[in-house]
Amino acid sequence: MVRILGISGSLRAGSLNTALLHAAREAAVPGLELEAATLHGIPLYDGDLEQREGIPAAVAALKARIMASDGLLLVTPEYNNGIPGVFKNAVDWLSRPASGIAEVFGDRPVAVMGASPGGFGTILAQDAWLPVLRTLGARFWAGGRLMVSKAGQAFDADGRLVDDRARQQLAHFLAGYRDAIER
Ligand code: FNR
Repeated sequence: MVRILGISGSLRAGSLNTALLHAAREAAVPGLELEAATLHGIPLYDGDLEQREGIPAAVAALKARIMASDGLLLVTPEYNNGIPGVFKNAVDWLSRPASGIAEVFGDRPVAVMGASPGGFGTILAQDAWLPVLRTLGARFWAGGRLMVSKAGQAFDADGRLVDDRARQQLAHFLAGYRDAIER
């Protein structure tokens, strides 16, 4: 069984990306167990806070969950053609202290997917993660892509992924990621 930790980069209760993460969890891909995490409770990175109080509890807890996983799945929104600050901030915290980066990210398989109401489905935010993941020494999985565009229509009012094509693409993406981790 491959265990993946998925993190949604949006704090919104009605987030399309959190809904996509839940759809991934419910996709019931054989041999894949997906846990969902959010970024609630993570403060803004502040070096003074770090020096005074160390790594915040919410960050330490998320780190522990990443380290217990076989792979990480970043479910990223796109803001202004880039990574939302909330998500980058969390990863910046997760990279502290620098001496622990290898343990959290080093050689860890990481996949990226995302959903947006627009026509491009977070393609630029996904690309913007690449230099970050390279810097962290993570093993970016480039074997598949999932961009849920026009996501306002792909999910119903309860956040269920109702677009059949997107559901198929999601299952295919997850199975590919699972196979890559197994290999
Ligand atoms: C956006 N949105 C957006 N969408 C997109 O496809 N490309 C973009 O560059 C942007 N830029 C952008 C900036 C800011 C500040 C906001 C608040 C939003 C729209 C965005 O995709 C939409 O709000 C999603 O619903 C956000 O993801 P969640 O919260 O639904 O997961």
